[in-house]
Amino acid sequence: MDHYGVLGNPVEHSKSPAIHARFAELTGQAMDYCKLLAPLDNFAQALQQWIDSGGRGCNVTVPFKFEAFQLAGTASERATLAQAANTLSFGDAGQIAADNTDGAGLVRDIQLNAGVSLAGRDILMLGAGGAAAGVLGPLLMAGPRRLVVTNRTHAKALDLVARHAKHPSLHAMLQKTELLALEQQGLQANFDVVINATASSLSGGAVPVDPRVLKPGALAYDMMYGAAAKAFSDWALAHGAVPRDGLGMLVEQAAESFAVWRGVRPPSAQVLQEMREALA
Ligand code: ATR
Repeated sequence: MDHYGVLGNPVEHSKSPAIHARFAELTGQAMDYCKLLAPLDNFAQALQQWIDSGGRGCNVTVPFKFEAFQLAGTASERATLAQAANTLSFGDAGQIAADNTDGAGLVRDIQLNAGVSLAGRDILMLGAGGAAAGVLGPLLMAGPRRLVVTNRTHAKALDLVARHAKHPSLHAMLQKTELLALEQQGLQANFDVVINATASSLSGGAVPVDPRVLKPGALAYDMMYGAAAKAFSDWALAHGAVPRDGLGMLVEQAAESFAVWRGVRPPSAQVLQEMREALA
């Protein structure tokens, strides 16, 4: 029996143990997966304890994804672009390899589960914090025509874009979130896909962008799910877009982590369907 878990703080709410248990059951993998509460001021020690106790790997969630990346000896390209890790694998001598499956999970959910192809499309990313950083590289790899990053704090958007700057489809918006600013930069302010990676809804804030960025029928994707995604979903529906919450991203990033660890891809669409039914 191989042991995995998710380190976070808080971690009690995590759905990852249920998702991975179902993946293991459906693929016949001999593994278990638990929640691991790490102290806010000592993630490194909690991680080392997990390695010492025989863990084969772990997921890492808020607020430790950056620290997890720093502690790893090696990192995948997508983790390096994100400067953050949500998936760690341990070698026999305790070496830590970092990966980040958040972006792959988002792209798979949009393209496979929602059926929206990203190649050649215009994408607007709202936010430039950890959630946005984790997904930008895989979004670029999907081949959009343009990917515009907009953020309340300009400097953070610029930093994020600078790290990904070799990709020609990426623009940074230097102004806040006004439609006017898009036009001033000569960008057509119509997007096929608008992704909300901000935390504005958590503080009760409005969606931080003019709804005219939405093409009719655009996909309006919130990386959160449940009640936290309601404000963005309502905004999308009110402006002729198709809302989607981040539950599929949650399941797909887990599936990608599972594949990294076990070399087996679980039936993620089935598990997503089961979760939607359980939550309904
Ligand atoms: P996370 O890891 O969830 O991305 P984060 O790194 O704190 O958390 O980033 C939160 C994002 O939501 C940031 O892009 C933040 O904008 P700033 O960089 O200007 O802080 C954005 N955000 C949070 N509250 C917001 C609000 N009320 N309006 C607009 N953007 C907001």
